[in-house]
Amino acid sequence: MSYMPIEGSTIAKDVDALFSFTVWASIIACVILLGSMVYFVIKYQRRAENEKTAFISHNYILEFAWSFIPLAIFLGMFYWGWHVYSIARTFPKNALEVTITGKQWAWDMTYDNGKKTTNELVVPVGTPVVLNMTSIDVIHSFYVPAFRLKQDVVPGKRSKLWFQSDKMGEYHLFCAEYCGTAHSGMIGKVRVVSKPEYDEWLKKDKSTMTPAELGHDVYVSKGCVACHSVDGTIKVGPSFKGIWGTVTKHTDGTSATVDVDYIRESMLDPQKHYVQGFAGVIMPSFQGLVTEDEINDIAEYIKSLK
Ligand code: CUA
Repeated sequence: MSYMPIEGSTIAKDVDALFSFTVWASIIACVILLGSMVYFVIKYQRRAENEKTAFISHNYILEFAWSFIPLAIFLGMFYWGWHVYSIARTFPKNALEVTITGKQWAWDMTYDNGKKTTNELVVPVGTPVVLNMTSIDVIHSFYVPAFRLKQDVVPGKRSKLWFQSDKMGEYHLFCAEYCGTAHSGMIGKVRVVSKPEYDEWLKKDKSTMTPAELGHDVYVSKGCVACHSVDGTIKVGPSFKGIWGTVTKHTDGTSATVDVDYIRESMLDPQKHYVQGFAGVIMPSFQGLVTEDEINDIAEYIKSLK
């Protein structure tokens, strides 16, 4: 259907067909019901004071028809829905498995060979993929509209999802469960690529990356991306663009030059100062969550954002 997002997975067509049928059945039923109601109100309205209502008791055929026909349609819809649901919940064997971890406010993906990405799920085209998902803090919801799939991820519990995409491309990934301050920033993408491209991508590792590139990975994987843009737009917190070496003013009247020490303090003790214009925005501390190397990489990354 043209008003739906692109159909990016094999189950999307089934879901759309069922959804279309449900919508159209509801529209038609609504028109028949409200249409006949309006028609009868006009046709049988009382036209004179002494007009009497005709004596009508019942009509077996009519009553049977208006009960049985909707019942048959409803049972058909139930069976259809159950059928599509059972496809979505029957996990294929020999599928590619990826572990997904939701956290405030990013998605971590871990592959069989230990490769990790954040906010980017890369899968080969035409291959069934099973996602083993959990959360480390609160309830999030893994949602890919183009795949017509959504699944809550719950701390302490594993939930699963599977899909196959036969269309290469990039698809939006959202968190569809309010999970705190930067819930709306908890977005990513699913990239469906050719099999050779996937194999090559899977082999690539971090040893060849520059500190700024590593810093970009930290920026995404630690969830900074949810609140801090790198293009100058203001999200929950200030943008990282062009701040390196500048003097930043705080709400308490103090100021500081943006360097490694300032970035370290901002990450480990974020409530110490508030940048002007961001009073009262509570950023969680990353004390114990980032290493010194990661802080340096982040600083290199911010330095590169001219
Ligand atoms: Cu995670 Cu909303």
